[in-house]
Parts: sequence; C-alpha cells; structure tokens
Amino acid sequence: MNGYEEARILLESSKRPLVFTGAGMSSESGMTTFRGRDGLWNNRSATELSSVDGFMANPGMVWEWYGQRFHAREGVVPHRGYHALVELQERKGRLPVVTQNVDGLHQTAGLTEVYELHGSMRTVSCLSGCGYATDFHEELLRKPPPLCPVCGSVLRPDVVLFGEQLPETVVKEAFRLAGDWADVVLVVGTSMLVWPAAGIPWEALQAGVEVVELNPEPTSLSKSPGVIWIPGRAAEVLPGLLEA
Ligand code: OAD
Ligand code: ZN
Repeated sequence: MNGYEEARILLESSKRPLVFTGAGMSSESGMTTFRGRDGLWNNRSATELSSVDGFMANPGMVWEWYGQRFHAREGVVPHRGYHALVELQERKGRLPVVTQNVDGLHQTAGLTEVYELHGSMRTVSCLSGCGYATDFHEELLRKPPPLCPVCGSVLRPDVVLFGEQLPETVVKEAFRLAGDWADVVLVVGTSMLVWPAAGIPWEALQAGVEVVELNPEPTSLSKSPGVIWIPGRAAEVLPGLLEA
C-alpha cells in the first residue's frame, strides 16, 4: 500500500480527525504564502511588516501592506480542498480546524470550528486597549493608519504580530485537541517554521497519534516516524484523499 492509500484509509476510518493548516492551504484560492518564491515577504523585511516594533515604528506602512492583503482577499473563494473538508466535517459530525491563516477562508467555506492561532484579518481593534473593536471595512484604509474613534490612538489589525503572545485560550484548546482528543491529524500547507503553532503536529505525534502531511515540499515533519507525507497540492489532492 502506498502512502496516499494508507492516509486515505486512516482518515476514512478516523472518528476524531483534526486539521492543521498554513498559508499553503489558501494558495490555490489565490492568496500568497509568506515564504517561498513569490512570498509576501520576499522583498520586504518580516520584522518591518509583521512585528510589534515594526508596527510601532511605522503603523502607516504596515497598514498599507495590510490594505494590499485585504484587497487580495476580495473576491477570493475557497477552492475544492476546502469543500472536501466541509464534507468531512459533515461525515464525522465534528472537524476542529487549527489554522495559522488569518484570511477567514475556512469559515467562508462552511467549517464551523476554527481555531485561529494567529488571529484574524477580518477585525481590527484599538492598540491602546481602550476596548474599541470593529469589523474591517474599506473606510479604514483611506488614510493609514486609521485612528480609534474613541480614544484617538492607532487601530491595529487583529492579527498576532511577532513579539506578541498568541491568544491563550485558543492555543490551549488547540494543543489539548491535538494531544488528548484527535485520533489523526491532517496537516496542510505549512512550512512548520513558526512556533508555537508548529508544535501542534508534534504534540499529536508525542501522544502516539498518526499525522498525514500534505505539502508539495518536505518540511521538518515529513520524514518523522508516524508521519505520512503526501507531496501534493491542497486543492488537487484533498478531494480524492477525503472521499468517502
Ligand atoms: P509559509 O508561507 O511559511 O509556508 C507555506 C507552505 O505551504 C510551504 O511549506 C509550501 O511548500 C506549502 N504550499 C504551497 N502551496 C501549497 C499548496 N497548493 N498546497 C499545499 N501546500 C502548499 O506559511 P505558514 O507555514 O502558514 O504568521 O507560515 C506560518 C506563519 O508565518 C504565518 O501564519 C504567519 C507567518 O509569520 C503570522 O503572521 C503571525
Ligand atoms: Zn481606543
């Protein structure tokens, strides 16, 4: 039996599958990944665009970058791979999805239990912590950076910046599901380079849970015992892999 067939049977017989995704999940929907040839960070410094210090030093520039990402998200629809996950959710009755993505595509597709480890691009809030929060809307991009209508300080996208803590309760629940609940973990489209998120599949492996990894490129996970690596792309492979 080859790896693909083994993974297909493993997922089909699983009672409690967990999915863990990264930017590669969205790439065939037209969203750019961070790293790699055409990555979002290719020509710019990640520290400038995605860190607390970078944001503090130049919130206008970071907001302009987010403006481009918001626009890139417009009109983007979830690809076939997302629909395959929704079908799996229906068959199993529950499908927790732990994601590093901030684009909200899993939810758009109809996945109902999504743990966003790195926050979300869909909302913004006040940097001062005055409590003001709102959905992202186009108006915010008019004169970057947008200011808080309550206290006048700068608004920020609700994504986790480097140098910040991840949302604690979300992280805790995601690790609990990986280590104590799931009977198989399906990892899709992550370079496995950013921690603590990358710890999710390792947590499952440590608990003796098998991991299926879908990524055209190998990662630190691919050759590990307990991991079935399928070199392939999400939209292409998921529909067949998850077929009943
Ligand atoms: P990366 O851009 O680091 O990695 C994307 C991965 O997806 C790579 O391993 C690609 O080989 C793979 N890939 C590309 N196309 C694919 C496809 N069609 N199907 C399947 N896999 C594909 O993205 P992440 O691992 O998500 O955090 O990066 C993690 C974090 O780095 C992001 O959440 C972001 C960034 O810092 C924050 O912004 C806090
Ligand atoms: Zn405020």
